Amino acid sequence: MSATANPVIRLEDDRFRVTEWQFAPGAKTGWHVHGHDYVVVPLTGGTLGLEHKDGSEVKVPLTPGIPYSRRCGVEHDVANAGSEYLAFLEVEVIDDALARRRTETLKRLGAGFNARDVDAIMECVSDNCAFHSAAGPDVEGTRYVGRAAVRAAYEALFVTYVESHYAESNAYVTGDTGLSTWRFIGKERDGKVVDVRGVDVFTFDGDLVSLKDSYRKARS
Ligand code: NI
Repeated sequence: MSATANPVIRLEDDRFRVTEWQFAPGAKTGWHVHGHDYVVVPLTGGTLGLEHKDGSEVKVPLTPGIPYSRRCGVEHDVANAGSEYLAFLEVEVIDDALARRRTETLKRLGAGFNARDVDAIMECVSDNCAFHSAAGPDVEGTRYVGRAAVRAAYEALFVTYVESHYAESNAYVTGDTGLSTWRFIGKERDGKVVDVRGVDVFTFDGDLVSLKDSYRKARS
């Protein structure tokens, strides 16, 4: 059995994890799947032996300070294929995982609205949530603050619109802000149909939505 490479975490915050991998000759990391995009910065020269699941093996020469990048999802076992000590820094971008979870939250939120399921919607929002509706007396439309008020506003929406559907929707996340674009098609109690495009601007608290700020076209 060959030696195992030694990982030393040099930095870890909410955006990056930097691990120094130290390899004796012949040492291996063991099989792993990369969960994040990453950059490798060699600290020494040498040769890496990369073994892949399809059985292929690649030898990669390392030059100190000359980096390369890979996307998440790479699966391999990495060995020091040279005869000297070898080390590199692995810089992982870890806030892409948060952005992915937040994008999933927006998709679940959209699915909740289309299912007209207020419980499902409220599972996507934080305890300190707020909703600013498109229309109302305030600069922000109408401001609903706190879970009870937000829940009541969403329930009222489904009373106003006996049928409702958000079509052609897309969701984007950058930092603590999210954006969804959609086409709202709703039928009011008296049969009047509303069909307008709009956007929601979201603020996140952790994985959950703390503010949904809605804007939609006013048709004339
Ligand atoms: Ni790797």
